[in-house]
Amino acid sequence: MGDLPRAARFFASLYADRAARQYAARVRGDLPARLAMREGRLDPYPVYERVRERGTFVPNRFGGLATADHAVCDEILRSRRFGVQPAAWTYDPTDPELAGPSMLGANPPDHGRLRRVAAPAFGPRAIDSYRPLITKRIHELVDAAEREGEFDFVARVASPLPIAVITSLLGIPGEHETEFVRYGMAIGGALTGVRGIRHARELQRADAALDAIFTELVALRRHEPGDDVISTIVAADELHPAELKPLCTLLLIAGFETTVNALGNAVLAFAAHPGEWERLVAEPSLATEATEEVLRYDSSVQRTDRFSFDDTEIAGQPISAGQNVQILIGGANRDPAVFEDPAHFDLTRPNASSHLSFSSGIHYCLGQPLARLELAIALEALATRLPRLRVSGRPRYRPSTLLRGPLRLPVAVG
Ligand code: HEM
Repeated sequence: MGDLPRAARFFASLYADRAARQYAARVRGDLPARLAMREGRLDPYPVYERVRERGTFVPNRFGGLATADHAVCDEILRSRRFGVQPAAWTYDPTDPELAGPSMLGANPPDHGRLRRVAAPAFGPRAIDSYRPLITKRIHELVDAAEREGEFDFVARVASPLPIAVITSLLGIPGEHETEFVRYGMAIGGALTGVRGIRHARELQRADAALDAIFTELVALRRHEPGDDVISTIVAADELHPAELKPLCTLLLIAGFETTVNALGNAVLAFAAHPGEWERLVAEPSLATEATEEVLRYDSSVQRTDRFSFDDTEIAGQPISAGQNVQILIGGANRDPAVFEDPAHFDLTRPNASSHLSFSSGIHYCLGQPLARLELAIALEALATRLPRLRVSGRPRYRPSTLLRGPLRLPVAVG
């Protein structure tokens, strides 16, 4: 009891210190917070430049740090002294910033165990087997687009392509496809924020429905294995039953919305740089290189974050145990120390693939070969078949700071 006042004083001083730091951050203008404001949501790149001008690290108002320095982002993402904040084993779609009880929300050793189980489904041979499906689907979508002349690129092309791939990847039977897509979109869309109680309830319903579909599928694939990822995971028989559905949900969410945004951002980047579009139209085989520059120039995942496991120091900055560091991926991709004239969109930039759009280290995007294949095939098809593709109206962006991309993108092709 005698120690209590001392302990109370200690916590009070800690709190005062934190409050003082928060106040100082506000007075200095919390730069990372600007990313969440309208200016940052519409165009985060000037904010990243200001972060970079101010230093390798800038404080945010939560007592954490943010960095847009490519080398430092890469170092932290690869460091064993940093990790994600481990998520509880309950998936909560009403908390869009929580990574979920999946490999993305796990640290070693759980992370390695979860990743090893799913990894075979993303090997080079497995991924290459999606080439015919992607090619067929994008050409069907282009056929329909040609007939329409003017349409919303997101609804007509950018969404249906990844949907076709993800339903095939997860082996969703035809009869479940429509509802699966609807519920998946509802949950994936929650990454942009929950709009109140009614929306939260809808998400809970979507989550429960998706859960039921996955439960049925897991049972089905135990008896009738296919060549889909759920069969791979079930056959490995290494996961706790409670880990199976979160993994399926992660694959759906991580693989869908990200790719939709990347396709939309690609069209916007080319619209702003018509000379580069002309180059691609003249030489559609540049699509693979173009994919890397599209990903670097305007990444669909703009940031992630890591926590320090212990007191440490990076690039002269002391970081305390438990402190959070925001990794500004979109900013790192425009770091002039790595990319010459970074605000320039250059199809054949020699080191474009050094971007951090798929992260780095142990959480390096598992689906990246598939995302790259989808983008390259789609860009080649668009350049070959729709050379007059152009933006014909004002795009509407997602109201998110985490995921960047158009929600609606009017285009014309005639
Ligand atoms: C352009 C499209 C995509 C982008 C920009 C993207 C980006 C990312 C990023 C940045 C991370 C790591 C986040 C972090 O380090 O905190 C990640 C992880 C992941 N992505 Fe992707 N992704 C894309 C497509 C896909 C696809 C198509 C799939 C699967 C079908 C997929 C599955 C995953 C999985 C499973 C993880 C977790 C990996 C781990 O924690 O070890 N992604 N992705």
